[in-house]
Amino acid sequence: MSTPSDLSAVAWGGDAVIYVDQRRLPHDVRRERARTVEEIEAAIKTLAVRGAPAIGVFGAYGVALLRDAIASDEAFAAAARRVRDARPTAVNLAWAVDRVLAAENMLAEAEAIHREQIAMDAAMADAGLDLIPKNARILTHCNTGPIATAGGGTALGVIIAAQRAGKKPHVFVDETRPLLQGARLTYFELQQAGVDATLQVDGAAAIAMQRKGIDLVIVGADRIARNGDTANKIGTYGLAVLAAHHGIPFYVAAPRSTIDFSMTSGDAIHIEERAADEVIAFGGTPAAPTDAAVYNPAFDVTPGHLVTAFITEYGVIKPPYPETISALELRPRFGALV
Ligand code: MRU
Repeated sequence: MSTPSDLSAVAWGGDAVIYVDQRRLPHDVRRERARTVEEIEAAIKTLAVRGAPAIGVFGAYGVALLRDAIASDEAFAAAARRVRDARPTAVNLAWAVDRVLAAENMLAEAEAIHREQIAMDAAMADAGLDLIPKNARILTHCNTGPIATAGGGTALGVIIAAQRAGKKPHVFVDETRPLLQGARLTYFELQQAGVDATLQVDGAAAIAMQRKGIDLVIVGADRIARNGDTANKIGTYGLAVLAAHHGIPFYVAAPRSTIDFSMTSGDAIHIEERAADEVIAFGGTPAAPTDAAVYNPAFDVTPGHLVTAFITEYGVIKPPYPETISALELRPRFGALV
């Protein structure tokens, strides 16, 4: 059993990919080992490993592991496809698996992806620091901390850096229905980092902006189109609309690997829909009638015009996004530096 302070979401274990089972956090900090394609796929699908960059790192190690374990090229290709397709919205997973598949030394490539993620998270935290005023009251949604990236975190990484810089932020944490990534993971990670936080139900965001002096909203992303349209955890779009209504800046922190340069807008982003029982039950206890008809999209798409700025490892990116985001495609690979 690990202590919370030595949490590392994903690690290479020689004959397995080691991960912290995020479904059990914060009350049970448990490391598991995935060895087979079934175990790797299930860990991603069940959200035992979650967060766009973390599933990218996990999928990368997973495919490298399977290459050694599966002799037949055909069977290996099918297994790699299962890992790549385990979740459809976060582009980081497909991006990382494709990168490993194209590499001569797959394990070395997976390790490079992991190393780069840690470096990119640190660069994002630096880049975002100037956007956080002293004593800022910040609203965030879902979980974007170290356990969501296998590094230092994206949006939460910026907040933790602000705390380390003595800015004393106070974070209003949306619980993030239906799976409570905010309540279980974000609040926990903020406590670990010594950041003051207040937990609220998702529906409290509007009144928090109206009455609690929220200075800014900062969230992560699962896929970003060239025009700035951003897929992120369900509820993010509503927050962006609310922020615009209240004149509050709305920031998205994400590495370039979350940008899908094949998409000019977010219209074609595949939104994962998850099982009805995630909504019908609350913490495993049935709440609604068990035969309720349910709409359970895991993500929504925030239009780019509602995003004040993107915080990336290359710095803060402002509109017009079709130009400024596209310009990132031509920048030298950040990873070459680490
Ligand atoms: O379904 P999840 O928990 O994997 O959704 C994750 C999010 O929406 C995060 O905000 C996003 O992946 C950014 S993680 C740094």
